[in-house]
Amino acid sequence: MKQICIVAGARPNFMKVAPIIREMERVGLPYYLVNTGQHYDKNMAEIFFSELAIPEPKYNLGVGSGSHAVQTASIMVAFEKVLMEEETSLVLVVGDINSTLACSLTASKLHIPVAHVEAGLRSLDRSMPEEINRILTDSVSDFLFTHSPEADVNLLREGVAEEKIFFVGNVMIDSLTFHLPEIEKSQILSTEALERKKYGLVTLHRPSNVDDPLVLYSIFEHLFKHSPDDFVLFFPIHPRTRNRIEAHAELQTLLKEHSQKIRFVEPLGYYDFQCLLKNALFVLSDSGGVQEEALMYDVPCALLRENTERNVCVTLGTTELISATRLGEILSSIFAGEWKKTVRIPELWDGKAAERIVEILGNVNAKF
Ligand code: UD1
Ligand code: UDP
Repeated sequence: MKQICIVAGARPNFMKVAPIIREMERVGLPYYLVNTGQHYDKNMAEIFFSELAIPEPKYNLGVGSGSHAVQTASIMVAFEKVLMEEETSLVLVVGDINSTLACSLTASKLHIPVAHVEAGLRSLDRSMPEEINRILTDSVSDFLFTHSPEADVNLLREGVAEEKIFFVGNVMIDSLTFHLPEIEKSQILSTEALERKKYGLVTLHRPSNVDDPLVLYSIFEHLFKHSPDDFVLFFPIHPRTRNRIEAHAELQTLLKEHSQKIRFVEPLGYYDFQCLLKNALFVLSDSGGVQEEALMYDVPCALLRENTERNVCVTLGTTELISATRLGEILSSIFAGEWKKTVRIPELWDGKAAERIVEILGNVNAKF
């Protein structure tokens, strides 16, 4: 029997593929794993393999960083070789990163069916590289697994045939619920001397926030102006953001001047980061996935973006879109306990999304 090829490449992919792999192993559905190597630092990749018990990939493409064209093309060239060697029934990709697009495009050109997990999310902002990746991946996909009804609506609006769309729920939440016991055992609060609800968690890595030093400078300036002196901002720093700061002397000076307010650490593993998020007073972020986790933990999520592809986190969750200039009013409302609460956990965010996906794929694989 042919095998399903599962692709992962960067941090936000690992918590999405882990439950699918676990379920495929449980039911005995044959698969092989390809790691493109888009992220390669220990704390951006390896740590998730060990914490989330992801097996050693059959192929490590080791593509690393590069411009969009270089990275996407390198993944395509390397992945095509894999698909030429293997008997592959279907390629499963997750999320919206360059690896997602590169591998779905390569498979579709070889007439191998593509399944996209987290299909149909749209920010309607084509200046985001992820939006292009989402639209193009969905357009070459044969199985579009969605995590919310709004994603189905987006796909139907774009003319995707209804029979290709499967509302299965959220695989990231599968990981969160499955690993809750380890998350609760994390010692990160005591090792970092942090007290529950007495710190803010910060993650910023979107090019629109961090690539232009003036924009990043202004974000930090507003943040420092409005956060109280005795309050810790805890910032596990993404390598893209770290590189930008290291290249800019004025940013470093500003950060040194306010070093008592902000604490930078290396990117964190899954358990420690989840524990910090769950116990934070708020999270200031531009992440995609963190919005969903903040909803689950009912933690205020100030999203430093003009739009989100995850509107469900605004309508049912704790996410508000904000700009740096509004940080004063945002922080006041958080400190006053006036932030909105999670209305309800979205339908099918129940820890069983991977089960639904694998059941559907099992029927497909049997036909090959
Ligand atoms: C990528 C995804 C983005 C996702 C983010 C999650 C694309 C277009 N972007 O953005 O959607 O939200 O991952 O974290 O796919 N770097 C390292 N070590 C690493 C990885 C990256 O130092 O292990 C540095 C390199 O200088 C690299 C830069 O970070 O050039 C950006 O990495 P890249 O994978 O191109 O994009 P991200 O910003 O990480
Ligand atoms: N995350 C993590 N450690 C960190 C920062 C984030 O484990 O230091 C997790 C986070 O909880 C979520 C995922 O990484 O599960 C989101 O990845 P990221 O924000 O890099 O990507 P995005 O979702 O924006 O594409």
